[in-house]
Amino acid sequence: MNPRPDPRTDGPSSAPSGAPFQVPGWVPGVHPAWLPPSAMRSVGRRRVQVHGDGPLVATVRAEVGQAQAHHGGAGDGPPDLVLALSPAEPPDAFAVSRAAGVTTVAAGDGAGLLYGLFHVARLGEAAFGEPFPPRAHRPAYERRMVQHWDNVDVHPVMGQVERGYAGGSLFWDDGALRADLTRAAAYARLLASVGINAVSVNNVNVHATEALLLTDRLGDVATLAEVFRPYGIRVHLSVSFAAPARDLGTADPLDPRVAAWWALATDRVYEAVPDFGGYVVKADSEGQPGPFAYGRSHADGANVLAAAIAPHGGVVHWRAFVYNHRQDWRDRGTDRARAAHDHFAPLDGQFLDNVVLQVKHGPIDFQAREPVSPVIAAMPGTRVAVELQVTQEYTGQQRHVCHLGPMWSEVLGFAPWGADGPAVAGIADGLTGVSNAGDDPFWTGHPLAQANLYAFGRLAWDPHLDPVGVLDEWIDLTFAPDTTADPGLLRGTLHAVMDDSWRTYERYTAPLGIGFMVRPGHHYGPDVDGYEYTPWGTYHFADRDGVGVDRSTATGTGFAGQYPPPWSRVYGSPRECPDELLLFFHHVPYGHVLHDGTTVIQHIYDTHFAGAEEVARMRRLWSRLPAGLVDPAVAERVAERLDEQLRSAREWRDQINTYFHRKSGVPDAHGRRIH
Ligand code: GCU
Repeated sequence: MNPRPDPRTDGPSSAPSGAPFQVPGWVPGVHPAWLPPSAMRSVGRRRVQVHGDGPLVATVRAEVGQAQAHHGGAGDGPPDLVLALSPAEPPDAFAVSRAAGVTTVAAGDGAGLLYGLFHVARLGEAAFGEPFPPRAHRPAYERRMVQHWDNVDVHPVMGQVERGYAGGSLFWDDGALRADLTRAAAYARLLASVGINAVSVNNVNVHATEALLLTDRLGDVATLAEVFRPYGIRVHLSVSFAAPARDLGTADPLDPRVAAWWALATDRVYEAVPDFGGYVVKADSEGQPGPFAYGRSHADGANVLAAAIAPHGGVVHWRAFVYNHRQDWRDRGTDRARAAHDHFAPLDGQFLDNVVLQVKHGPIDFQAREPVSPVIAAMPGTRVAVELQVTQEYTGQQRHVCHLGPMWSEVLGFAPWGADGPAVAGIADGLTGVSNAGDDPFWTGHPLAQANLYAFGRLAWDPHLDPVGVLDEWIDLTFAPDTTADPGLLRGTLHAVMDDSWRTYERYTAPLGIGFMVRPGHHYGPDVDGYEYTPWGTYHFADRDGVGVDRSTATGTGFAGQYPPPWSRVYGSPRECPDELLLFFHHVPYGHVLHDGTTVIQHIYDTHFAGAEEVARMRRLWSRLPAGLVDPAVAERVAERLDEQLRSAREWRDQINTYFHRKSGVPDAHGRRIH
């Protein structure tokens, strides 16, 4: 295998014309997210030296220059901040120290230097206070990836961005690459500032036009790669497994002509984009073509692409989201939750080294509450990336505040073999997140949803970070509270509205881990039976006596048995199963008593009243922020969205409570109004 080209040191120069790199400008009317000029103030008001060469060092110089131009620098004299390459640090990593009035960032390469610069920005004035010894910062994962579900053409059902809640695509506009990529460049900067170094630029559902990116439209991919390169981000492409069939009439992975087709196509990709990252593949899933059509395994399928791309140092992200989406709802023996493990666990050890199996964090599909996918622990001989959904498909579609950092922290901290064994964070080889950004003026529709993209990047760098601390970083950068009239009120309100918002969302939506009580198709708002008699494999089985899916080994689908002990035992037992997942694993009577002493039916009523109340409180807190404490455009957009969240939370409360009251006939112990 050839050495992997390093875009940070070996890649094409970021400024082919020889002109110095310019930090991407902001488009008027577009919110600067977490990088307003104030975010670079501590750097910009100091004397800074940058040592080293290479495209990313040039980016660091340009960043420092822009910050100083904005904040006045500090004139001539000895430096306050030195940013330098150092052979002592590995790639992507840096160490920060302060001694004798100088703060030093020593980085292993240009990317590390860039991350070190943004780290100093996060520290703010604290980077220039008391001396401190070198502190090492190394990313937990080599690849920290954001994936876009953007279509090139506007899809008749899914639109420009599948499950996008933030306007159009930053890359594509109705069939064409955007003529103006200023926002894509600013996006690259935002992503790099939180350590993201890989981005896939098109939807995992690869339709006809999108399939051409791999072949006829490589120029578009090359242009996007140029936009991302100055920030150390490699471009990846979602490809169709059936791509060779256009020329060969087959995509059979064991056919040598197919292998040769992929090798040639991949050579051409690397001619156009020498630092190309790799392929993302959704195969045999929800109608996408795959190896099953040829009687081949997913290892056969992934390996033919992996072999083609290995000589160039690229990777294949192969998705484990494979299940039967044409199930018969009458068939209670088939369990969608089992599917990924059933398909992939037997293939452990058969994937080439440069295949990364990309596993959704839960066994079903990004619900607000699911157990951690058992596949993550079942494949010790395979590289596994955990896929998180930053775009809020099932968590309020960026109309609801739902801060996901705490949920992701729980996932990453889950220890599949019990507390003495490793956690997901240590088992995984990488994190991928489905982006929530678009061409909306606030990037993410809901301005507070910017914090989810921020948190995703920070957790992909260090999965052990405390999500509350990460939120504080985001608040400091975005709102610069210390420069406002009432920093405590601003910070306190943001925490009060955001910290617990995921659990609040969980309270007023589907109860106790059952999931999927959403409107079919667009997945917004409540519809308890919306998926109950459909082929999608997402059922709650409520009847007059009880609710939930029996996934135990003793009497159910056996899904609980896909976990190693102790979780196979814990999840398999209705007595031991954690309350929040009870209905995911068990069908229980409404009178079943939870660990906290309430019955299932009373818990449903209580949490739904409490969840909607909590949203009303969030709305009140926001309205009490004095005018001028936050940007009026942000204040207004958040207020509008909170109004909608409150309306929607009440709708959820009333539909869920009414449904279960009518099914069970059990009155609310507190006599509250149920319809
Ligand atoms: C969900 C989502 C789809 C998406 C799919 C996937 O099912 O609703 O729009 O294509 O996940 O992850 O591939």
